[in-house]
Amino acid sequence: MSISESQIAKVLEGIKYPGYSRNIISFGLVKEVEVDGNDVRIRLAINSQDPSIPEQIKTEVEAAVAAVEGVGGVEIVMEAPAPKTPGIGSARAIPGVEHVIAVASGKGGVGKSTVATNLACALAQLGFRTGLLDSDIYGPSIPTMMGVKVKPRVLGDRLEPVPAHGVKLMSLGFLIEEDTPVIWRGPMIVKTLTQFVQDVNWAPLDFLIVDLPPGTGDAQLTLAQTIPVEGAVIVSTPQDVALIDAKKGSAMFGRLQIPVLGIVENMSYFRCPDCSSRHEIFGNGGARKEANRQGVRFLGEVPIEAGICTWGDKGVPIVVQEPESESAKAFLEIARAVQAAVATPAGSADRV
Ligand SMILES: Nc1ncnc2c1ncn2[C@@H]1O[C@H](COP(=O)(O)OP(=O)(O)O)[C@@H](O)[C@H]1O
Ligand SMILES: [Mg+2]
Repeated sequence: MSISESQIAKVLEGIKYPGYSRNIISFGLVKEVEVDGNDVRIRLAINSQDPSIPEQIKTEVEAAVAAVEGVGGVEIVMEAPAPKTPGIGSARAIPGVEHVIAVASGKGGVGKSTVATNLACALAQLGFRTGLLDSDIYGPSIPTMMGVKVKPRVLGDRLEPVPAHGVKLMSLGFLIEEDTPVIWRGPMIVKTLTQFVQDVNWAPLDFLIVDLPPGTGDAQLTLAQTIPVEGAVIVSTPQDVALIDAKKGSAMFGRLQIPVLGIVENMSYFRCPDCSSRHEIFGNGGARKEANRQGVRFLGEVPIEAGICTWGDKGVPIVVQEPESESAKAFLEIARAVQAAVATPAGSADRV
């Protein structure tokens, strides 16, 4: 009986990428199938930092193809794949994660973690599979804001992110003992971070939101280089000092050739609950002007609302707790703007 290439392709379609529900053909790992009489030759290109994965797939392919009736010899050629995201430093793409977005600020206390948390929850509400990585080694506050008190489970040699409000959460804070002196945190984390980010069961995700530490120092640079960031969202308050630091943040991403997707102005104004008029306590519109000056998008303005703070402390982001509030609506608009900023026609058809 003669064998056909499509018959072999069918067999390969039955082989899943380890840990995924998608098969190796739909992942685009099978580059060529050649049938010559009874002999089959298959070319595979597998991009994984875990050397056991290509080996495992190779063994499975060999066994499955050899089991097809009429097949004589099976030759598997393993090819080194091309890097997925050229130009983004040394960061390796995270398999099964489509868009990695960093949330950054020039200084602390401007609401970076609040924006990261609500942006992630808003994206999840819009139907996107979303993860949230708290990489703020100096103030890992996201588990509190998301109401997560448990540590992630270890499955084999991988970490399982903790689900909260429809988002998969992981925090570097889970790994740092609370009494580790702050000055040791930078070097310690940076050393292990690449491995750490790759060893989390993120996939499949449409968005991974990364809360970076505030500032533009070495730790931030290394983090932004180590994680395969596609674009950055800069958070600022309307004050000049915050805007000056936001400028430095943009410059840092510029040096790394990571596009700034846009600027969010947090604590833009306060809506008086009695008279409904808008009070611009810290001034307003500065971030919009700064975005215009830099030629980047202005992603939206978030008002000062007591609920942001009180619900944040209770572990429920405002977009989840009070979706009808002005700030929740602002966060949803920001999520839509971020989605629009990364949307590419090709991206949506090829999801995991
Ligand atoms: N728009 C806002 N309205 C009210 N409180 C806010 C707002 N944004 C942030 N906060 C509060 O300000 C504090 C600092 O915010 P956080 O997100 O932790 O800042 P960062 O991560 O930049 O240090 C938190 O207590 C948070 O709840
Ligand atoms: Mg923070």
